[in-house]
Amino acid sequence: MAYTYKDYKVNADIIKSHIGSFKPEVLMVLGSGLGFMADEIIDPVIVEYRQNYEYKGREPLGHAGRYVFGELAGKRVMAMQGRLHCYQGYTMEQVAFPVRLAKMLGAESMIITNAAGCVNADWHVGELMLIRDHIRLFGFGPLNGDNLDEFGVRFPDMSEVYSNKYAQIAKEAAKKQGITLREGTYMFFPGPQYETPAEIRAARVLGADAVGMSTVPESTVAAHCGMKTLGITLLTNMAAGVLKQKLSGEEVIAASAAAAPRFSELIRGFLANMDE
Ligand code: HPA
Repeated sequence: MAYTYKDYKVNADIIKSHIGSFKPEVLMVLGSGLGFMADEIIDPVIVEYRQNYEYKGREPLGHAGRYVFGELAGKRVMAMQGRLHCYQGYTMEQVAFPVRLAKMLGAESMIITNAAGCVNADWHVGELMLIRDHIRLFGFGPLNGDNLDEFGVRFPDMSEVYSNKYAQIAKEAAKKQGITLREGTYMFFPGPQYETPAEIRAARVLGADAVGMSTVPESTVAAHCGMKTLGITLLTNMAAGVLKQKLSGEEVIAASAAAAPRFSELIRGFLANMDE
């Protein structure tokens, strides 16, 4: 059930009725543990996802589930407090729905964050990784179905999904703040089960440095409609089979909480300098 351009327009108009003439510059997709950043937005205007008809009756699990519009580090932002994942039963197109709304509301940039398992055995839990590219091999992507020409072309180029310029700015911000920032490739797995050790070995052979269950739908749609993306991953655990221990959701949550202050500092540093 693909969306039409009108579906996006109707929902963007619903949001406009709440935010008036406010035009966000940046969409911020906040992963697990980073939702608190939306509470730091100045002069916030809050729009619950459920006010957009697409979400009616399908609340994101365990998350606040709202957009927060306002100012952060001198930029006009549209933050998502709570995000959707394919493993909740949403299609990639549904997961990426807010990206096109943001574009319609005026945003030309996206900051997307996530938690992921670390495949690169030279790196450590708790470190941050700049996403320089991604791998998504299986299943239909978010652009499956009729192309919406209003947003972009049928066969969009994917050679710079994650902006090189934004990567440089984030690296400079990290350096100034003394934050270790790795650079690598994020590989999408649908979840909700973690990967098997054999899947992680395969991912490593393919060139992945981190594996996770999000981000790729939104980044693909952002690239399609010409938005510039900064992607940052928090490596919350070594991926399956790297260490002789089982993976647990608690481990992931604890690592997110521990890294949250550093993560948010980096994002603020980026926001303050992104127009360089
Ligand atoms: N695999 C997939 N998604 C994840 C992981 C992982 O190891 N850690 C956090 N999100």
